[in-house]
Amino acid sequence: MKKIMLVFGTRPEAIKMAPLVKALQKDTEHFETIVCVTGQHREMLDQVLDIFDIKPNYDLNIMKQGQDLYDVTAKVLIGMRDVLKECHPDIVLVHGDTTTSMAAALAAFYQQIPVGHVEAGLRTHNIYSPWPEEINRQLTGRIATYHFAPTPLSKKNLLAEGVDEKHIFVTGNSVIDALYWVVNKIQQDKKLQTELVGILYQARYNIHRLDAGKKLVLITGHRRENFGDGFISMCKAIKTLTEKYPDVDFVYPMHLNPNVRKPIYEVFGEDLSNLGNMFFIEPLEYLSFVYLMEKSTLVLTDSGGIQEEAPGLGKPVLVMRDTTERPEALEAGTVKLVGTDYDKIVHEVSRLLEDDIYYENMSKAVNPYGDGLACKRIVEELRVNDSCLS
Ligand code: UD1
Ligand code: UDP
Repeated sequence: MKKIMLVFGTRPEAIKMAPLVKALQKDTEHFETIVCVTGQHREMLDQVLDIFDIKPNYDLNIMKQGQDLYDVTAKVLIGMRDVLKECHPDIVLVHGDTTTSMAAALAAFYQQIPVGHVEAGLRTHNIYSPWPEEINRQLTGRIATYHFAPTPLSKKNLLAEGVDEKHIFVTGNSVIDALYWVVNKIQQDKKLQTELVGILYQARYNIHRLDAGKKLVLITGHRRENFGDGFISMCKAIKTLTEKYPDVDFVYPMHLNPNVRKPIYEVFGEDLSNLGNMFFIEPLEYLSFVYLMEKSTLVLTDSGGIQEEAPGLGKPVLVMRDTTERPEALEAGTVKLVGTDYDKIVHEVSRLLEDDIYYENMSKAVNPYGDGLACKRIVEELRVNDSCLS
């Protein structure tokens, strides 16, 4: 019996670790599963814990409005010191590229507890893009003993950095496990579909507006490197598009980070409640977000996870970033980088809305990131591969 601790703290980590928590919890013969959340996010983390019915054993509850990277790093590091001392796990699993992951990995290292890195090996090789995530992921990879790489390309990146091939496992990305679980759940449950329509309605978007074939552009944004001018330019482009296409709906579930909301108020005004075809809404819980993504025509985002999910649903994605550590869908032709440039965003969204052939070419469903079995593979490695836990 091995004691495995999973540590996560933000919405995307929780979505991607939830199916792994579930898979490990099922195997009570081999694993004692401990969940520690840092609470780097609060409401947006709790939304995910509720959907997947996960009750953490530890909650560092570190979120404070307006805190910076120093605060998050220090609070996770200190908080994890005490949790690890009390719990003594055999291995700590962290995910991806957040400050929670990097600081939790460091905390485990300081007690010589081996770290397993889920979603390892993605790289832009530009330390300022995404910032600070590229370095968070590289540092976590440097500390980790076991690397669960989602794709062959991420394995290649790790090999190029000298990681021992014996410790790299190509598993697919667990975001696809989570996505399939949600899509199946929604498809099979008519009552749930009605509930999700209700949740969206309460969030102030009436999905029946799309009944007659109206198009929907789904938007999200939150990257730190885009704060300030980048976000202003994105918001101005979105405003132009809402005026150019009055018959298209634009829905933007806003991240709770105040730095995301400030430019929205600056460009659209303080009252966001009555903007015609532009709907700014609160962050959606995962089920209703996926439901809305399935109904959308295209997605305009700077998100990492959405870049992985939307191609699987056959939705073209315009990525408001200059680089991506997820080039697989770029190569497949369903994702395009548009940066935060006003003209480029307006041009590319317009083209997808107007040019049917161009749209068709970008909307083929592809899934370079996984097949829904990533967590099964990770659990198998943890169970079978002696090197993983000895
Ligand atoms: C974090 C991660 C980023 C990830 C993103 C996913 C780091 C450095 N950043 O960025 O990699 O892509 O999450 O969304 O790890 N807030 C709330 N409630 C919440 C969540 C956030 O009020 O549930 C507000 C708080 O004021 C908080 C601020 O947002 O201080 C910023 O949160 P933080 O986790 O520091 O950064 P994110 O931009 O969310
Ligand atoms: N998501 C969600 N509700 C929303 C917006 C996004 O559940 O209102 C989900 C989305 O499907 C994806 C994840 O949150 O799985 C992405 O989170 P985010 O963009 O905050 O972080 P990133 O993936 O960029 O790290």
